[in-house]
Amino acid sequence: MIRQLEEILDQGRKSIADAGSESALNELKVQFLGKKGKVTALMKGMADLPPAERPVMGKVVNEVKNSLEELFEARFREVRELDLERRLVQECLDVTLPGRRMPTGALHPLTLVTEEVVQIFSTLGFGVVEGPEIEKDYYNFEALNMPRNHPARDMQDTFYISEDVVLRTHTSPVQIRTMLKQRPPLKVIAPGTVYRRDSDLTHSPMFHQVEGFLVDAQVTFGDLKGTLVTFLNRFFGRRIGVRFRPSFFPFTEPSAEVDIACVICNGKGCRVCKDSGWLEILGCGMIDPEVFKAVGYDPAALSGYAFGMGLERLCMLKNGINDLRLFFENDIRFLRQF
Ligand code: FA5
Ligand code: MG
Repeated sequence: MIRQLEEILDQGRKSIADAGSESALNELKVQFLGKKGKVTALMKGMADLPPAERPVMGKVVNEVKNSLEELFEARFREVRELDLERRLVQECLDVTLPGRRMPTGALHPLTLVTEEVVQIFSTLGFGVVEGPEIEKDYYNFEALNMPRNHPARDMQDTFYISEDVVLRTHTSPVQIRTMLKQRPPLKVIAPGTVYRRDSDLTHSPMFHQVEGFLVDAQVTFGDLKGTLVTFLNRFFGRRIGVRFRPSFFPFTEPSAEVDIACVICNGKGCRVCKDSGWLEILGCGMIDPEVFKAVGYDPAALSGYAFGMGLERLCMLKNGINDLRLFFENDIRFLRQF
């Protein structure tokens, strides 16, 4: 029996040393020390021994049992450590690798300019309103003193959605919508997207305008001029060459277009200003009495001015951009510069 025990211990030592995983060790443990295991079987066999031998044998069996338990314990520890090491190697992170840079988004230059324009006019006391881009012919043309077949409609080549609905060609319809909704005095700007069948260096089929208008009891062209010059000087951060050129709009009388000295060529003449040294940035004038009549205002009691400026032009001139189409091509090399 002693020999049997020694054999079991020997076998156990070898098998335990060979077991490479916790699950293999668990199985072995059952084989040796489990209820139906080899050691347990021997212990049961002790009942057949003569009573005098029992205490000695009992001691030896216990020793073997304890040795095996210690061997299992030690190997379990080893296997767990090896496993941990293997996982540490496999799942290792190289914390010295350079990080992956997340590109930061930024606001589009036109958004930035819109915000700046709104900001400047806010400090001058203007509120902000908006109107729809898909607009009724009535607001875009008729109420602005351009009845059907009026030749002035040809000044803006229009995208028609149906006979009565257009993509607004300017932000001026917001004047009508606002005057119908609110009572004077009015002092608001209306930034927004507009559409025309235009396309070249300084014209795009989709572009942006900021409308501005003021309606009160005694408004003069001087008020208009003062507001616009103040705005332009603040916007460009210096005194900039500005000229008011007599012009025509059906919804203002008198009317003017405002040019500023071309900042690309400093007024010398280049392809952006078409060699004139000047760039048109806005149209303006005193609100025509016909417009007041269309919204039910009394033209004898009220007067007002209005202007509409091209945001792309402002942005080009401020940043020295020589082609308006750059704004809409979404070339990241261009957009990154703002
Ligand atoms: C108008 O649109 C008038 N509604 C402006 C106005 C408002 C006059 C209130 C009087 C009172 P005009 O078509 O000139 O006017 O356009 C105004 C500005 O928009 C131009 O000075 C120009 O800066 C810009 N603009 C016009 N067409 C384009 C285009 N296709 N692409 C980019 N900018 C344009
Ligand atoms: Mg014009």
